[in-house]
Amino acid sequence: MQNGSLNEKWAARQLAVMPWGSSTCSKAARWPGDEPAAMVRGKGCRVWDVEGREFIDFRNGLGPVTLGYAYKEVNDAIAAMLEQGVVFGHPHTLECETAELISKVIPCAQKVRFLKTGGEAISACIRLARAYTGRDHIVQIGYNGWLNVIAPGGLSLPGAKPGALPPGIPAAISALHHAGEWNNIAQIEQWFKALPDGIAAVVVAADYAGMDAGSTFLPALRELTERYGALLIMDEIVTGFRIALAGAQQHFNVMPDLAVFAKGLANGLPLSVYCGRAEVMDRLQQVTVSSTYGGETLSLAAARKTIAIYQRDNVVDHLWRIGELMWQSLNRIFEQHKLPITIKGFWPCPQFVIGKDAPPDLEERFFRAAYRNGVSLYRVSYVNYSHKEADIREALDRLKKAIAELGD
Ligand SMILES: Cc1ncc(COP(=O)(O)O)c(C=O)c1O
Repeated sequence: MQNGSLNEKWAARQLAVMPWGSSTCSKAARWPGDEPAAMVRGKGCRVWDVEGREFIDFRNGLGPVTLGYAYKEVNDAIAAMLEQGVVFGHPHTLECETAELISKVIPCAQKVRFLKTGGEAISACIRLARAYTGRDHIVQIGYNGWLNVIAPGGLSLPGAKPGALPPGIPAAISALHHAGEWNNIAQIEQWFKALPDGIAAVVVAADYAGMDAGSTFLPALRELTERYGALLIMDEIVTGFRIALAGAQQHFNVMPDLAVFAKGLANGLPLSVYCGRAEVMDRLQQVTVSSTYGGETLSLAAARKTIAIYQRDNVVDHLWRIGELMWQSLNRIFEQHKLPITIKGFWPCPQFVIGKDAPPDLEERFFRAAYRNGVSLYRVSYVNYSHKEADIREALDRLKKAIAELGD
């Protein structure tokens, strides 16, 4: 990218009109100059920026693009629905049909409802849990969406360093939320001991790099919440339709009271699901959660088609297999070059981990070089169904060139 380049011009325009230069904080270019400021198009596993530079993409919209950009079968389903109408003044048949489908696919989903974003669906579950239990305190593990950045010391964004009192949150509200650590059951048990009748729910999003600890941590959370009469809410916004169709609850065989699915639902169309035990969900008769766009049909049509493709083509298997090829090979390249970077976690959604003794600028130099060589990565990187073996080999060749530049 040159000085005065199209990317630089777009970055200036974005920053002039939008705080962060983007409505999604994590999408704003972190390393301007090499990282694209703005994209214009995507197809399959590739995206193109305003300068026409092509990238083999592992950002995938930050998670939701599981089949591929502009995936034809999903696009066709959306186009067909568009001809019939987007929102109605009564529920469309597709809303009930998609709820029935979700209820079949997700073990905990006796009852199902739709919203647009993951964060608001988690908020709905928190409100529901408070109403159901008559308790106020909430323990949160991981990032659960901007509406739920409330706990002192909680993540302010995915992967961001914990802050103190989040700006804009009254201290009295913040005091009801507690930021828990993934795989630290002793810490969470302490809160239960301190507030035995006070905690309404534990909300848990699995940690990317340490996801395998879910095999012991999630059952322990289930047992602890049951013992103290609190609800377990699983944030499956990333894990859902990625590590298994029904996410961590299926992979680790743990039944939550409530769960939220979003990113993997509709190949990028804005749709979230909150679902769970009928007895809890039925409290929605009294608890107000309602949105004009909850049953918007384009996203529902996309979800129905996307889930059908997952089932027909065993997409989750592909994500594991092609992810393993990509990330294990990349780990080997890091090792060969003695670079203190590893990619850890489950292959459909692993995380880059920079060694503690690595030079402070290593992460930046690596990601910049990857962009310069046509590979678009993110802190948590995702494969999609359109990444085939040849794409992975090409991406690895590009990354070898990028790594060779690091010595320069
Ligand atoms: C684990 C997790 N939970 C919740 C959210 C929030 O979802 P949304 O951005 O759709 O509100 C995210 C988004 O990155 C997430 O990764």
